[in-house]
Amino acid sequence: MKNNNIEQRDNFGSRFGIIAAAAGSAIGLGNIWKFPYMTGLNGGAAFIIVYLVCIAFIGLTLMLSEFIIGRRAQKNAIGAFKKLAPNTPWFLTGWMGVIAAFVILSFYGVIAGWCMEYIVRAVMNSFAGMSPDEITSSFVDFIGRGGKPIFWQVAFMSLTGFIVVSGIKDGIEKYAKILMPLLVAIIIILDIRAITLPGAGAGLEFLFKPDFSKLTANGILMALGHAFFSLSLGMGTMITYGSYISKKENLGETALQVTIADTLIALLAGIAIFPAVFAFGIEPNAGPGLVFITLPNVFQQMPLGYLFSILFFILLTVAALTSSISILEVVVAYFVEDLKMNRKRATITATLAITLLGIPCSLSQGAVPLNIGGMSFLDAMSWLTDNLLLPLGGLLIVAFVGWVLGRKEVEEEVTAGGIKVSYIPLFMFLAKFVAPIAIALVFLNGVGII
Ligand code: PHE
Repeated sequence: MKNNNIEQRDNFGSRFGIIAAAAGSAIGLGNIWKFPYMTGLNGGAAFIIVYLVCIAFIGLTLMLSEFIIGRRAQKNAIGAFKKLAPNTPWFLTGWMGVIAAFVILSFYGVIAGWCMEYIVRAVMNSFAGMSPDEITSSFVDFIGRGGKPIFWQVAFMSLTGFIVVSGIKDGIEKYAKILMPLLVAIIIILDIRAITLPGAGAGLEFLFKPDFSKLTANGILMALGHAFFSLSLGMGTMITYGSYISKKENLGETALQVTIADTLIALLAGIAIFPAVFAFGIEPNAGPGLVFITLPNVFQQMPLGYLFSILFFILLTVAALTSSISILEVVVAYFVEDLKMNRKRATITATLAITLLGIPCSLSQGAVPLNIGGMSFLDAMSWLTDNLLLPLGGLLIVAFVGWVLGRKEVEEEVTAGGIKVSYIPLFMFLAKFVAPIAIALVFLNGVGII
């Protein structure tokens, strides 16, 4: 039975559904496209260690903070601050989140569109017989075109809107429960293939044997910014999803499980990629082109590469989709609850507006010279979220929980339903001091103030 009463909020229906949806949000292009290429650019294992430290101390604290805010308020990212801290400027934190959602999804949709094009290319076996130069130029040529990447971007955004329009239980949760197991299965198959290649050891060494001389200050900033991006933090996604978690659920445990799942998948993606890259004597530092240029080269030389290339690009697209729906939901939840739109109208409006903002991102890859501060428009949007919006949002969110909400409310929320926890003193210490200071330092360093 459809319930059109806006007073009654839709909720996740099951434990597995919550984990699938939240882990689905976290696990995305960030894990499979960006984490491997950043690791490649920053020298491997040492970068991974810094990343893991950021995840453990800051990421996890922030994830739980967002869940607490969302579930306590039972509201979207902006409404939550209005409810928990009425008549204060804290709601601006929520605003920043909604803006970040717009910005992120605009370029995310473009890159996810590239992944869809690459499923088609993989199926058509188009990489076969191409020289490395040809593979590079066919990628550069494709993203630099006007029409085709936009066609795929629109296709991907339509899929995203199609899922979100059906709501939480019948849309987001339903698809996450199907897509996430598929993703795990594909990545395990790809991992087995990669580590059984002759010469795979060099890639594993690159991933797990640290050389700290390769680590730079900028690398540390990238690791923190990426921790936020990868865990979907700092912009209200987990506030929004937290608001759909029932009061019976254990928030601390959920945050821990989602964080571990996200980190494992990033590592598994590294294991699927680098052993193969090294086994075929290719340089690991290709940057954003790693999965679109380096990997097709690898697949071409690999036994059964045809099959694995199809699986890989399906994996990327599936991962992107379970993330993009969570980003769109941040905006849609706000439109529905605070602007009182119905869900269909909210979804269509948000999807259209974000897709439009994505078009300059797409065009900036070659079709039209759209540059900001020496970066393409797409890179500038990505830089803006990683280095400004997410760290600043994360800082405000964690400080809000530590200082404004305070220990009593935190305790009430994480122990709701009679759950016993022992981490509250540690959590409060992290939320009040460690996380805000660490984020502030890295952030000021990143924008060049210290
Ligand atoms: N976490 C997603 C990924 O790794 C991206 C994302 C960022 C999703 C911010 C939601 C919010 O691809």
